[in-house]
Amino acid sequence: MKGIDWKTFQRLRGSEKKEYFMQFGNIFHVIMSQQFDRKFLDEICELATKIRGISKGNKGVKFLQSLLQGKRAMLYFVQPSTRTFLSFMVACQILGIQCSEVRDTSTSSELKGESQEDTVRTFSSYVDLIVMRHPQAGFAERIAFLLHQIGRPVPVINAGSGKDQHPTQALLDIYTLHRSFENYGGIDGKKIAFVGDLLRGRTVRSLVYLLRNYDGVKLYFVAPKGLQMGEDLKKYMSEQKVVFEEGEDLGEVIPLVDAVYMTRIQDEYDEAGESKRIDYSRYHFNKEYLDILHPNAIIMHPLPRRGEIPVEIDEDRRAIYWRQVRNGMWVRVALIAKIMQKDRDITEY
Ligand code: NCD
Repeated sequence: MKGIDWKTFQRLRGSEKKEYFMQFGNIFHVIMSQQFDRKFLDEICELATKIRGISKGNKGVKFLQSLLQGKRAMLYFVQPSTRTFLSFMVACQILGIQCSEVRDTSTSSELKGESQEDTVRTFSSYVDLIVMRHPQAGFAERIAFLLHQIGRPVPVINAGSGKDQHPTQALLDIYTLHRSFENYGGIDGKKIAFVGDLLRGRTVRSLVYLLRNYDGVKLYFVAPKGLQMGEDLKKYMSEQKVVFEEGEDLGEVIPLVDAVYMTRIQDEYDEAGESKRIDYSRYHFNKEYLDILHPNAIIMHPLPRRGEIPVEIDEDRRAIYWRQVRNGMWVRVALIAKIMQKDRDITEY
């Protein structure tokens, strides 16, 4: 991020920013899905699978724990999180990294009026990696930029930035799709439905950005009026020649697809209780849909769920959201290993 000022940087397109998130030809910051290409996605999936295998034996567990011993990570999560926080923490532990955390600004000096920039700058004095979840879009990016400016480039991983992006969730979703379709021709050519609050759901946005890397995919955006996919992303997909359709009827789309990606309504972003006026039950996966869903299709959800998928559906072998949760841990181990340049040690193990 040398030789560029913040204003100019901000105006760049995602694809143009990606070189600034690299260091010495390696991925350094993880900020947005547009920074990843197919080669990277294939590598991360392979690495996650390799790590999973290694960790099955005691010797392997010890080997993984020795890789980054003495390194420290800061988990700065100032927006609610269960899975992302825990899986990052466990991923660090698997690699021998020690973690510190701030989960509430009321327990840090931000309450005394310290700026968020100064807070994060403080972390960079103590740790080798910063993972952050923040309600503001673009916050992780601004911090990554700032750390270079002050000459303390510490890798920053965006673990969710407002309504905008959640790139590590998208990586685990790709890994889940990759594993599910391993024996069915891979992700290329698959039809995927995204259901629910597509306007404010950052997991969907980040995953859609990644899917441009696969050939012949077709996307169905199924959402209530007013919560359809944002114009910015639709424009991007059209430019990238990714085929998509928009609709409101879930039942119509279910029989057509290989994967259904359900989401909850993101009412924490409501400005005037607008979510209450929407009949979201039309965007629930009813039990009857199991009969019309293809036998090899999968049902995904980033979780937490709030009734979009009734608990009885968990029994169906096509319901794979709990596997997504587990995959999240392996993908985050792989990602951290790659950032810290330990991927070769792992592949050669
Ligand atoms: C998602 C998020 O935080 O965006 N949760 C997650 O990280 N798995 C989805 C959500 O909150 O709806």
